[in-house]
Amino acid sequence: MTSEIKDPVYVTDQLIADDIDAYLLKHQHKTMLRFITCGSVDDGKSTLIGRLLYDSKMIFEDQLASLERDSKSVGTQAGEIDFALLVDGLAAEREQGITIDVAYRFFATDKRKFIVADTPGHEQYTRNMVTGASTADLAVILIDARQGVLTQTRRHSYLVNLLGIKNVVLAINKMDLVGYSAERFYEIVKDYSHFAQQIGMDSFLPIPISGLQGDNIVSHSPNMSWYQGPSLLAHLEDAPVNSTRMQERDFRMPVQWVNRPNLDFRGFAGQIGSGTVRPGDAIRVLPSGRTTTVKSIVSFDGDLPEAVAGQSVTLTFADEIDCSRGDVIVTADSPCEVADQFEATLVWMAEQEMLPGRPYLLKIGTQTVTATVTEPKYEVNVNTLEHSASKTLGLNAIGVVNISTDRPIPFEAYAQNPDLGGFILIDRLSNATVAAGMIHFALRRSQNIHWQAVDVNREAHAELKHQKAAVVWFTGLSGSGKSTIANLVEKKLHAMGKHTFLLDGDNVRHGLNRDLGFTDADRVENIRRVGEVAKLMTDAGLIVLTAFISPFRSERRMVRELIADGEFIEVFVNTPLEVAEERDVKGLYKKARAGQLKNFTGIDSPYEAPEEPEITVNTVDLTAEEAADKIVAALLVR
Ligand code: ADX
Repeated sequence: MTSEIKDPVYVTDQLIADDIDAYLLKHQHKTMLRFITCGSVDDGKSTLIGRLLYDSKMIFEDQLASLERDSKSVGTQAGEIDFALLVDGLAAEREQGITIDVAYRFFATDKRKFIVADTPGHEQYTRNMVTGASTADLAVILIDARQGVLTQTRRHSYLVNLLGIKNVVLAINKMDLVGYSAERFYEIVKDYSHFAQQIGMDSFLPIPISGLQGDNIVSHSPNMSWYQGPSLLAHLEDAPVNSTRMQERDFRMPVQWVNRPNLDFRGFAGQIGSGTVRPGDAIRVLPSGRTTTVKSIVSFDGDLPEAVAGQSVTLTFADEIDCSRGDVIVTADSPCEVADQFEATLVWMAEQEMLPGRPYLLKIGTQTVTATVTEPKYEVNVNTLEHSASKTLGLNAIGVVNISTDRPIPFEAYAQNPDLGGFILIDRLSNATVAAGMIHFALRRSQNIHWQAVDVNREAHAELKHQKAAVVWFTGLSGSGKSTIANLVEKKLHAMGKHTFLLDGDNVRHGLNRDLGFTDADRVENIRRVGEVAKLMTDAGLIVLTAFISPFRSERRMVRELIADGEFIEVFVNTPLEVAEERDVKGLYKKARAGQLKNFTGIDSPYEAPEEPEITVNTVDLTAEEAADKIVAALLVR
């Protein structure tokens, strides 16, 4: 079971055997609807999907093979697929696939092609649902007519709405088991309407069905003459697809790459996210804001008179203006916004909880930037819709946060344009996707706070002191000797007439950072603040020494990037845990071992040793004096 979309095998279409070209042509011009099915465990999701596949007679190659095998073993004729077996096959697959991710299944009718994302329904699979829903045009929310609206139904609906799926079908299933009762149907519809209103869902279409019996799936069911609406498949065939909707909006195209085969040609390649473009159109390149007109639209089929959302093209410009990967080309008179601070909803998808202040990679459109996230404004309980205060977000949690990026990016609100408003966050060390996000709006402050240029700059400050500013960053376990050695180094530099300042963990935690404890999140914030203070001090021309455990690679790297090139000198005070614990100057290891002190570094909180520190001192072989001398010598060389 994989999440790959496979080439389907058309088992009943004679055309494929007779004339493959005619066959391909027939399917080529159909629109494609992507939809997601959400249901709880016993809602009959597999049966419903089986019914759609069965009735449209289109099945995967591997499904076909295994089904044929099964049908032979129970004595059915080869090639003839039994509906019950198909459903069993899908269910078994789903069960195996449950730990993997989303299963995409493909089928087609005479009118349209379909890709259905089949996702497991349990809470722990929020990630799968987000993955499946992010590209969907429509969602089918399944309800068991006997059960009515359940917690799961609410959660799925909330997510579907959050992800901006406008077309929602409420498939009230197993109608055969409630005697095809119109009363029961309307009762559930009323219940659901109430909830839909609460979450701001604009509309939904309720359809009474029986996946097992096939009622209202492909054609109108004679068992429910009281229902006047479309069958499920009829609705799927007629529902609008996003690509059509996106064509009606303003032109936006994120640049994927710059095409420059020779000096005479410079084109900007990408997939058009929304709108239409023609030669002669006035456009603007964001974030720079430079304008020009489109000279030509180049494609594999030659120059085009027009291109629309969904098409991949290369644009050439009338003027030589700067434009590179990650930029967004937009209509000149109706550009999108550019900002570096946003409010957004995050769906956290990693085991490791979110750490406010930690730099993550943020991938939006065709560009990747560095971003940090604030403490959540609130976390949403998807089951009750209640908002609660929270310091962080754990696996599957949904919360609203502020995000700031290291440079301004062009964007649109997710609700307007998922292409330019949807993003993912990636952990910089593990490269894992840790969250999916949706931008609400830019924070005004990002537009209203400007950098104030000053005349007495950092060079002037340092020059007056006859020195080069630097940050000497000591890192190591508690009790490794950081403070002692940093103190000695400062004394030696001071004696040499250098202007220095020592920031020490224990001291800073009495003032600036007295509000912080020792959780991962607090340690991240501790280092972020110290990094910013150290940076200000280097602007003042000082040689700053810092002595903090600073246990995480990510934050040490963040500070390194904050400080000017070559001015960050990482000193690893390499003392093994046994030695630090043996010394136990403050008696804290003893307390930690006795369980009286939680989250103690080296005991129940991690320490990530530097990979490439500028200087390493080994305090087992060297005395503190010797270590300090070694460091000063290394600093002088620099
Ligand atoms: S850091 O991890 O956030 O960089 P920092 O260097 O500021 O830590 O503070 C570490 C000092 O706080 C230690 O030297 C120790 O004296 C004290 N301390 C108190 N509780 C803890 C703890 N749980 N883990 C580590 N150090 C602690």
